[in-house]
Amino acid sequence: MKVKAIKVNKDDRTIDLIDQRYLPVKVQNIKAVSMDDCFTAIKEMVVRGAPAIGITAAFGAFFAYKEASDDKQFQDSLKHLKEARPTAVNLRWAVDNISEMVKSLISRGKKSSQIEDVLWDNACRVLEEDIRTNEAIGTHGARLVKSGMNILTHCNAGALATGGYGTALGVVRKAHEVYGNIHVYVDETRPYLQGARLTVFEMHEEKIPYTLICDSMAGFFMSQKKVDFIVVGADRVAMNGDTANKIGTYSLSILAKYHNIPFYIAAPFSTFDKSTESGKDIPIEFRRGCEVIKIGEQNITFTDCHVENPSFDVTPSDLITGIITEKGVIRAPYAENIKEWLG
Ligand code: MRU
Repeated sequence: MKVKAIKVNKDDRTIDLIDQRYLPVKVQNIKAVSMDDCFTAIKEMVVRGAPAIGITAAFGAFFAYKEASDDKQFQDSLKHLKEARPTAVNLRWAVDNISEMVKSLISRGKKSSQIEDVLWDNACRVLEEDIRTNEAIGTHGARLVKSGMNILTHCNAGALATGGYGTALGVVRKAHEVYGNIHVYVDETRPYLQGARLTVFEMHEEKIPYTLICDSMAGFFMSQKKVDFIVVGADRVAMNGDTANKIGTYSLSILAKYHNIPFYIAAPFSTFDKSTESGKDIPIEFRRGCEVIKIGEQNITFTDCHVENPSFDVTPSDLITGIITEKGVIRAPYAENIKEWLG
């Protein structure tokens, strides 16, 4: 796996993040050495994608512990960190786990230096486990794909969005490895262009045949019978299977239903949220209007025009063929099956 969103520097206990804002034109890293660096990297989308956000937050929590003068300051920093991006539940998952972990270590009388070591090891473990999880998702997902299929994907749910390998692109990678004749339609993913910039970068690096299309072209290619299979990632899966993912995913799922094309979500269990009953309870992040008004640094319309920029939408579970997880594929009835699989 050549592309890595997060590189761990074990010697000085820091991380390097590929600055995804400039890909694929410039490949440059940002060094994160503090909780603030991690917060800003998540908020400004230097690093993005639900699992990669969760992993960066785990390192952010390690820095926050190192920097805090007491437990209150540490807990306040964690609370702040969780606010960096509201929809991807992996962020809350990583931070809440760490908060519980530290409370338990304190109650068992552990010294600060020992807690610091535990938090560093925890962040490294979260990263490594995420890669293994993605590979398992890839293996389960590839069994659904047939030789020669044209797969459509939206946004970037690849190595750049995770610890490495990817969820939706993990399925694509594995299918490419097995069959060698897979072709991918890459939705450009307006407004932030994660498809055009990041998924294209990964497909190019891995030499997986692809075609870049504008989001509005997906229906055309489906009607031409050029799309056999759709797989996308997730930012949060509710307990009834409703799934939040990059804006535009909902429209794709309706197109898929109309054209009778299998529509799969690929997501690890860390993206399922036990406290979210249905899609209605998922908070949707609204981002700055300038992301719509500009492409890169170039204004494409009046700078003062009124804009709305919801970053995610929710796909109702009845439009989802299955959810590919590290343990296998969950299918309807989702509420029943998710409860059973999550335990
Ligand atoms: O705004 P982003 O780029 O963080 O949105 C990313 C997505 O919507 C991905 O599909 C999702 O996080 C899954 S990444 C494995």
